[in-house]
Formats: sequence, C-alpha cells, structure tokens
Amino acid sequence: MKRKQFMQSVAGLITGAAFLPDLSQASLGELPGKPNPAMWPPVDPTDERFWQFVRQQFPLAPEKHYMNTGGLGASPYVVIEAVQGKMDELEKISETGHSEELWKAIKANIGRLLGCDADEIALTRNTTEGINIVANGLPLQRGDEMITSTHEHVANQVTWLALQRRKGIVIKTFVPSSESHQENIDRIEKLITKKTRLISIPHSTTTTGLVMPIKELSRIAKANKIWFFVDGAQTLGMFPFNLHDLGCDAWAASGHKWLMGPKETGVLYVRKDMLDIIQATNVGAYSDEVFDFEKGTFTFVPSAQRYEYGTVSIPLRVGLNAAFEFVDRIGIENMWKRDQALSARLFNGLREIPHVRVLSPANASLRGAMITFMHDEIPYQEIQTHLNKFNLRTRVVTEGGLAALRISTHIYNNFDEVEMIIEGVKTAKKS
Ligand SMILES: Cc1ncc(COP(=O)(O)O)c(C=O)c1O
Repeated sequence: MKRKQFMQSVAGLITGAAFLPDLSQASLGELPGKPNPAMWPPVDPTDERFWQFVRQQFPLAPEKHYMNTGGLGASPYVVIEAVQGKMDELEKISETGHSEELWKAIKANIGRLLGCDADEIALTRNTTEGINIVANGLPLQRGDEMITSTHEHVANQVTWLALQRRKGIVIKTFVPSSESHQENIDRIEKLITKKTRLISIPHSTTTTGLVMPIKELSRIAKANKIWFFVDGAQTLGMFPFNLHDLGCDAWAASGHKWLMGPKETGVLYVRKDMLDIIQATNVGAYSDEVFDFEKGTFTFVPSAQRYEYGTVSIPLRVGLNAAFEFVDRIGIENMWKRDQALSARLFNGLREIPHVRVLSPANASLRGAMITFMHDEIPYQEIQTHLNKFNLRTRVVTEGGLAALRISTHIYNNFDEVEMIIEGVKTAKKS
C-alpha cells in the first residue's frame, strides 16, 4: 500500500462506519453500541465477526486505535456498569459494602480462574502494591542477594532499590535473552551464589514481551532454597496459566491491563506456605483474625487477606470480578489465539520493513502479545509522533537502555489496525 492509499484507508477507518459489522445490529439489543448480555453470539475465535462483536462491548471510540494495553487496558461496558451499579447502590445507603461473603465469592472466582486457592489471593490496587508487599515483607537482610533482570518496569526497579538503600540487599542483574528459555535459565543460574535469597522476574517483560520460563525457574529456585517472586503485570488476562502449576512463591498483577478491569485494581497471590514468611507490613482492619489491644496480642487471618487493610472501594473490586467473568465468557484460550494471530502478523509485517529491527523474540512461543521494534534511521519518538497522527496509540520503551516502540494487540484490536501500524512505520520519514 502506498502512502496515499494508506492515508485513504486511515481516513476510512477514522470515519468508522465502514468498519461496523452488520452482525452488530442483530446482536446489540436496543441500545446501539451497548451490549445485551443475553444476545451474545456463539464464541468463535476464527470468525472475524465475533471479534467485531467483542469490539462493540467497549465504549472505546471507533476512531481510536488503542494499542497500549500493556500500559492500560480498555474496559468493556460490563465492567464499567458493574462498578457504576455497585456505586449507585452503595451511595443510596452510604455504606462501604464490605461483606465477607462477597469478598470470599470474588476471591473464589479469581482463584478458580488463576489456578490457586481463594485464601491465597489478596486484592490490591495494582502490581506495584503487590511488589511492595512482597519486597517489604520478605525477611531480607544486609548482604542478601537477589537476582532480577535489566528489563524491569520502574515498579520493579525502584522498589528493590529502596530496599537496597534501607536494608543493604545486593541486586544482581542479567540481560534477558530473546533467543531461548534455556539462555535465560543459564543467565540466572550463573548469578546464583550461597547468598542468593530471591529471584524476582517478570512473567513477561514490559520491554519486548519476552515470556520467562517460570515453571523451570520455580524448580531451580526451590532446589536452591531461593524465594521466587513473579511480576505478572503483562500476563494476567493475556494467556492461560495456573499459578499452582507455575510453582512460584508469590505473583502480583494489575487488573487494569490485559484483564480490562477497572483502573486501580490488582491481584496478589501468595502461596499458602509463604504467608508466614512474607510478613504483612501494612496492616489494619481486615488483616487480623483476633486481637486484644490491652493484652497486646493478635493473630493474622490465616489467608492472604492479611495483606489487605482498611476501607477500600467495593465497586472497583466488583468491577474486577466482572472483568474476570468477561474474560471467562470469551475464554482466555480464545483471547490468546486472537492476540497471537494479531501480534504474529505485526511481527512479520514489521520485520519486512527496511531498517526496522524487531526486538521481540522471533520464536512465537517466547513472546506475549506485545511487539517492540526500533528503526535504525528514524528515532522512536518520531515514529510515534507519525503514528499518533492516525490515532494509533503506542508506547515508547526506554527500560533496559532500549529506544524503541511497543505495540500491544488485544481483543478489541483487529487486523486492519495492525496493517495501519505496518503502513505507518513504512511511511514514516526522518524529520
Ligand atoms: C512488568 C510490569 N510490572 C509492573 C508494572 C506496574 O503496573 P502498575 O502501574 O499497574 O502497578 C507494569 C506496568 O506497565 C509492568 O509492565
């Protein structure tokens, strides 16, 4: 496609109408643009019209080509309405709405979908809060070593740097390899010493979407008596996994990325036998099982709820549960197939462009649904500015010393948008 055609196609997409499927009219119910849950078509991940229907479950403006789910996910109507509905209900009576029954039901649902027990789940504000709970709760001491990568999100750099300053821990890093799982295993194993107490790595890196071999690393950590924390910010809602099967000691994620939940929601998993090792440091109402202030005694609840404290937003947590249910309704395997198909096309299309270097792994089994690339002749900021003109929302990557652009492809994206990115990069010019 030549530049002129590209502009025309972008213009066509921006007007939106040509893009809306006929199927929608039959499926949406009375309110155009709003879903009627009773009218969902059968889930068919191979039918483009099904994904057009899914796209219409989001209020995301048709002219907005949102491709930064790794930063923040768009939320579907069902999630927004769950939050609004609960808020309306609670504001009529001015109550917090906190009920143990509701809490347990939400966590049981999350545990079922993530492959762990409800008691191993704490509801948090975001991944960062989960990381902080783990970092500050582990009994790490001066001179203890931890291993992490050079491609961490700022949340996973600053938290550990603060611990280094406060407690004198030693941080050792490896540069992640996009070549193979074994290469990353080797790089981590080389850093293990008698003083290593912790490995902290992402499930999938924020930089290139590289997926780490968590299961194998869990075995290595266990064999060496090393704690193993996994940052799942870039995998919750992207692909299926089972936390017990992964075998890590703790795992934290945000509800507001690939899961498409309300903003400021998160999930922290702490395996049962780690509950007394990762000390609860921020505590209060809901952390305790019993306490007697006069006698100076208390016990924590025998679950990950001990990491929760004080009044929180029940509407947001109800919305998080709705996001899990939305994902479950489509099926995480189906979503993953879609995301993989979109990102594979993007990967292949970008790789054919002269001077473009795709930094995400070439082996599809090593990557998530984010493709990161750089141009040898055009600075990443200029490419982003060019893509912005066509409402293509991307994210710059500077972590790990990279100077690149990252494109997330999720269930509300489509192949036309992927082609727009490819054509946009092809037509970008150095200023
Ligand atoms: C790997 C990783 N960890 C942590 C975070 C921080 O997430 P949040 O701001 O939701 O805590 C991000 C955000 O992009 C991330 O990519």
